[in-house]
Amino acid sequence: MVKRTELTRDRFYKRAKEEGYRSRSAYKLMQIEDRFKLINTGDVVIDLGAAPGGWSQVAKTWVGDNGVVISVDLQHIEKIEHVVIIKSDITDAEATIKAIKGTNSLKGRDTVDVVISDVAPNLSGNRDYDQFRSLELSKSALNIAAALLRAEGNFVTKIFQGDYYNQFYKAVKDRFRNTKAYSPGASRKRSAEVYVIGKGFRESVQ
Ligand SMILES: C[S@@+](CC[C@H](N)C(=O)[O-])C[C@H]1O[C@@H](n2cnc3c(N)ncnc32)[C@H](O)[C@@H]1O
Repeated sequence: MVKRTELTRDRFYKRAKEEGYRSRSAYKLMQIEDRFKLINTGDVVIDLGAAPGGWSQVAKTWVGDNGVVISVDLQHIEKIEHVVIIKSDITDAEATIKAIKGTNSLKGRDTVDVVISDVAPNLSGNRDYDQFRSLELSKSALNIAAALLRAEGNFVTKIFQGDYYNQFYKAVKDRFRNTKAYSPGASRKRSAEVYVIGKGFRESVQ
């Protein structure tokens, strides 16, 4: 749990307030994008675990008017101009994929260009349990990405580092031509979170 005093001292929190982003997480996506170039103009992007919407706000500016951002979360997301919002539990991959396709926002296709996921469980304080739940959510994000991405599409998801991390990293590596792990400067210093990036989705795996 982050204390309120800690938050108000946090420079990314202050910047987000000043610049109109709904979360300080918006800067993590900017730092990921600076380094890995996952999103292009005109792309269809799925944002998993998107509330309150900082990543979606940023992604929308990158895809532009010809692109699409579809934001998915368990929680309510306030309207974001030109962003499609879905309330769904991503651990039910089938229902989430159906809801995404049901929006008819995939520009007449059956696939998407990029899946971004900042999904995280509510922290219980039990580190092992939180790491396990983070793994389950990240696996759901990977399953949804594998079902929706076009060949050569891109993926990023958050995961808490722990016993299961290597196993998850390998699962991403099996499906993408290039896989990297990255901790953006905007992540809090004592956070266990890391982002796993997959570039170049391989539709079929030998
Ligand atoms: C760190 S926040 C995301 C912040 C967001 N990227 C932003 O910039 O505003 C993690 C989100 O994951 C969501 N989440 C957790 N479990 C989920 C699930 N099973 N299905 C969908 N969303 C989930 C939470 O509701 C929460 O909004």
